[in-house]
Amino acid sequence: MRGPRYCFALFFILNCYSTTSDHPTANLSTTWTNTESFCHAAVFGDGSIVRANFIRGSSGPSFACGFYCNGSCTSYLFYVFIVQTNSTSAIDEQQSTGFPQVVWSANRDHPVSYGAVLNLTATGELVLQDVDGSTVWSTNTTGKSVAGLNLTNDGNLVLFDVNSSVVWQSFDYPTDCLVLGQRLFQGQQLIPSVSSTNWTAQQGLYSLEVTDEGLFAYVGSNPPLSYYDKLFSGNVCLSSLSSVEPSDPYGVIPIPGASSAQYMKLMPDGHLKVFEWQESWSVVADLFSDHLGECNYPLACGRNALCSGNQQCRCPVSSSTRIDYFRAVNDWQPNLGCFEITPLTCNATQDQTFIELENFISFNFVADMKRVDTETCKQACANNCSCKAALFQYGNGSDSSSGDCYLPFELFTLMNLDTFVIHNSTITFIKVQNVRSPPSASKSRSNLGVILTFTIGSVLFLLGVIGFLINVTRKRRLDTQREEESLGEVLGLPNRFSYEELKTITENFNKKLGEGGFGVVFKGTLEDGSKIAVKCLGGLGQVNKSFLAEVQSIGSIHHVNLVTLRGFCAWKSQRFLVYEFMSNGSLDRWIYHGDREKVLEWKCRKKIIRDVAKGLAYLHEDCRQKIIHLDIKPQNILLDSEFNARVSDFGLSKLIDRNQPQVMTTVRGTPGYLAPEWLSSVITEKVDVYSFGIVLLEMLCGRKKFDISQPEESWNLLDVLQKCWEQGTLQDMVDKYSKDMQTHSSEVVEMIKVASWCLQYDFTKRPSMSMVVKVLEGVMKVESNLDSNFTDPRLQNTAFEHDKDMTQLMASVLSGPR
Ligand SMILES: *[C@@H]1O[C@H](CO)[C@@H](O)[C@H](O)[C@H]1NC(C)=O
Ligand SMILES: *[C@@H]1O[C@H](CO)[C@@H](O)[C@H](O)[C@H]1NC(C)=O
Ligand SMILES: *[C@@H]1O[C@H](CO)[C@@H](O)[C@H](O)[C@H]1NC(C)=O
Ligand SMILES: *[C@@H]1O[C@H](CO)[C@@H](O)[C@H](O)[C@H]1NC(C)=O
Ligand SMILES: *[C@@H]1O[C@H](CO)[C@@H](O)[C@H](O)[C@H]1NC(C)=O
Ligand SMILES: *[C@@H]1O[C@H](CO)[C@@H](O)[C@H](O)[C@H]1NC(C)=O
Ligand SMILES: *[C@@H]1O[C@H](CO)[C@@H](O)[C@H](O)[C@H]1NC(C)=O
Ligand SMILES: *[C@@H]1O[C@H](CO)[C@@H](O)[C@H](O)[C@H]1NC(C)=O
Ligand SMILES: *[C@@H]1O[C@H](CO)[C@@H](O)[C@H](O)[C@H]1NC(C)=O
Ligand SMILES: *[C@@H]1O[C@H](CO)[C@@H](O)[C@H](O)[C@H]1NC(C)=O
Ligand SMILES: *[C@@H]1O[C@H](CO)[C@@H](O)[C@H](O)[C@H]1NC(C)=O
Ligand SMILES: *[C@@H]1O[C@H](CO)[C@@H](O)[C@H](O)[C@H]1NC(C)=O
Repeated sequence: MRGPRYCFALFFILNCYSTTSDHPTANLSTTWTNTESFCHAAVFGDGSIVRANFIRGSSGPSFACGFYCNGSCTSYLFYVFIVQTNSTSAIDEQQSTGFPQVVWSANRDHPVSYGAVLNLTATGELVLQDVDGSTVWSTNTTGKSVAGLNLTNDGNLVLFDVNSSVVWQSFDYPTDCLVLGQRLFQGQQLIPSVSSTNWTAQQGLYSLEVTDEGLFAYVGSNPPLSYYDKLFSGNVCLSSLSSVEPSDPYGVIPIPGASSAQYMKLMPDGHLKVFEWQESWSVVADLFSDHLGECNYPLACGRNALCSGNQQCRCPVSSSTRIDYFRAVNDWQPNLGCFEITPLTCNATQDQTFIELENFISFNFVADMKRVDTETCKQACANNCSCKAALFQYGNGSDSSSGDCYLPFELFTLMNLDTFVIHNSTITFIKVQNVRSPPSASKSRSNLGVILTFTIGSVLFLLGVIGFLINVTRKRRLDTQREEESLGEVLGLPNRFSYEELKTITENFNKKLGEGGFGVVFKGTLEDGSKIAVKCLGGLGQVNKSFLAEVQSIGSIHHVNLVTLRGFCAWKSQRFLVYEFMSNGSLDRWIYHGDREKVLEWKCRKKIIRDVAKGLAYLHEDCRQKIIHLDIKPQNILLDSEFNARVSDFGLSKLIDRNQPQVMTTVRGTPGYLAPEWLSSVITEKVDVYSFGIVLLEMLCGRKKFDISQPEESWNLLDVLQKCWEQGTLQDMVDKYSKDMQTHSSEVVEMIKVASWCLQYDFTKRPSMSMVVKVLEGVMKVESNLDSNFTDPRLQNTAFEHDKDMTQLMASVLSGPR
């Protein structure tokens, strides 16, 4: 009540702009100054202020116009809005109900300050001047015989002449809203605001327009591409079905009958929504939703991004090379899109290549070429500098060599067809630029050679001198320091942070996220606001070797289902790894009955399983060097805010050349998830498949592999599997504490069979991770002839499961039966 009280106390008699609700009109030569001088004023709980020139109507939602500022109130706009009024036509300040709904604004791109003046001049012009006297906005109606200003019952701000006919009206200049009865005429546009908090017009992104063919929603401006259309002739009128006008019945967008005040708004995300007053303001219709799913909006995930499911966004990655071509504009807001790490350049087309994606489509697919094969389509894009991608749609199922080809020069969100269409109906090639390799010196070798020899000679000589000097002055250099220096020289390493930077980022290491096998993990925030997890590896004997291994291997691996290493730090003997932050933590928080935070639904578990399988398949098969994780367990599977899973912690991983299984000398991993072949020392990537099988089983059953709260014969989950497998009662294993899992028990049982395949005692019988992915995607079936012996007497030892000192124990096991 700050503002209004001043108003009543100081200005009521002197200078209170009071126009009663019966006559929301003004004569020429009237000015309103944006100070506390308004009678109809309100201050809301969040600090927003409304100062109304007029209010039309009393009690309930009423139209008003005047100054309005939201939140911090540093700048004001002149608006027409709908406010709640009580029986005395006072603006209702109740935060939950009374918030003004802005339906038109004069100066949304040019806000004004406190003290700005709205002037209905003697010459018949409505002018908004900022406090410095500059004209911000004007109706330009000088000399048009304006007689006064009126706010009509419909919410139209009108300048009328002596004959009461309209000279100027706000309805002719719609912003992002239409109110009941307002029409959108040909040539007029609705343009959304930048966001719900920044009301500047979002030029050139989305727009809604009526043409002589009908209503079109567009994205982009050069030229606009339509993502929604409704064909008819006439203008658009927001009207409920009950009041269709007979003159142009097709021009009406049917919306639910209005029982109260309504307005329609083009939202910043391209949706067209209808709001209605029902004790509070709520969305009663999302008008494009009959035709468009979330991923159909051209910028559902921003530019150059992929959208799947219910608006899950990610950047395109190349499955064949390990190079990252796109990066998220903002890692924590994936729907803002992706940018090319190396922009396409037309004069270096020889360095361009393509990322290949199956089953993605763009909202505006049009056939630039018909009945061509994929290669022709791709080449056409390669040959045209402005082409950003080649989208190919297979023609008739049987005929793979003929289809439609689309060559966009602007890439919007690509939508995944998985959920709509059967496999393999489109293929997309996204053009990307490789970093140009330095020009070779072979051309003018003779000349260069001489220069080079000379230069190199002098440099070497200088280096020698410098080296000598350094050696003399710093004879005794600490080992740790030397190592620290050499770390930075390893090529291809991710960002290097200084210790001071890390201290700032983690607020002096005070937010502990958890403690892993290799050290403590802290939460931090980078300067750009993105959150990270800092793993501190200090104080461990074998740290240096594993640190380098981890930095080198993870730093070069990029996959949506693998946690990204963002940087590292080496300071004295301390080693730190900086990872992306995963807000939902590790999988073990979510799957065990009893201590889980939330019971995950079947769909969510299935997604996590698929993510992990894909991440592992990538490590095993798509990297230049095969990477075996060696420590797959729920603690090493991290979840983001949308429960997308990423495999983390390659600290124990060891790079193994393809086709060359190696004999390992030390046992690695975690009891319970270890494959039986650890006992025989032939270690292949199938040990990960086994561990994955255990994780799978734990997720499906909602319990730990080893759980002594169960009856003794069920302590070991593998014993339970063995029994249920033999008795054909696998459905008894399904997580009993989840109704949703029970509902889907037949699907879950199929998944238990996948787990059983992964848990084959003989590692050669286990599937590869890419086979698992295929099974999960439904293009392959589980091997039917499975060995049903899941348990190994040597692994039955309960002490084995419990013992924390692995090395000691395994040493004895290894020395035993071998
Ligand atoms: C505008 O002028 C007319 C005629 O001069 C007068 O009747 C009316 O009260 C005035 N309206 C206001 C709001 O001052
Ligand atoms: C209407 O609202 C105003 C301002 O919130 C308040 O001062 C007034 O008492 C209210 N009148 C009634 C009848 O509720
Ligand atoms: C309103 O406009 C008139 C004419 O343009 C001008 O003379 C007058 O000073 C303005 N009033 C204010 C308060 O700026
Ligand atoms: C008034 O004229 C100015 C200058 O010509 C123009 O920028 C502005 O858009 C016009 N205002 C309206 C409401 O048409
Ligand atoms: C203002 O508009 C209303 C319709 O909303 C109309 O009834 C009224 O006559 C108008 N007033 C003037 C002065 O034109
Ligand atoms: C008002 O109407 C009269 C009679 O129809 C006409 O002569 C006059 O030009 C009109 N005035 C304006 C400003 O349109
Ligand atoms: C101010 O803006 C915020 C964010 O859009 C919104 O939630 C709030 O309702 C607005 N306040 C008012 C009084 O309109
Ligand atoms: C609002 O968005 C516009 C256009 O993107 C930008 O120029 C302006 O700085 C933004 N304003 C605020 C307060 O963020
Ligand atoms: C491409 O051509 C532009 C203009 O001629 C030039 O500025 C740019 O450096 C060239 N880029 C490459 C990679 O050659
Ligand atoms: C390249 O593609 C653009 C957009 O598809 C098209 O307008 C242009 O004519 C093409 N250029 C050539 C040389 O084919
Ligand atoms: C698909 O097959 C039908 C019948 O064989 C043929 O008429 C049609 O042209 C084919 N379409 C394409 C795109 O090849
Ligand atoms: C998709 O279909 C094409 C042509 O039918 C085929 O060459 C390709 O191997 C298929 N890809 C997959 C993953 O099935």
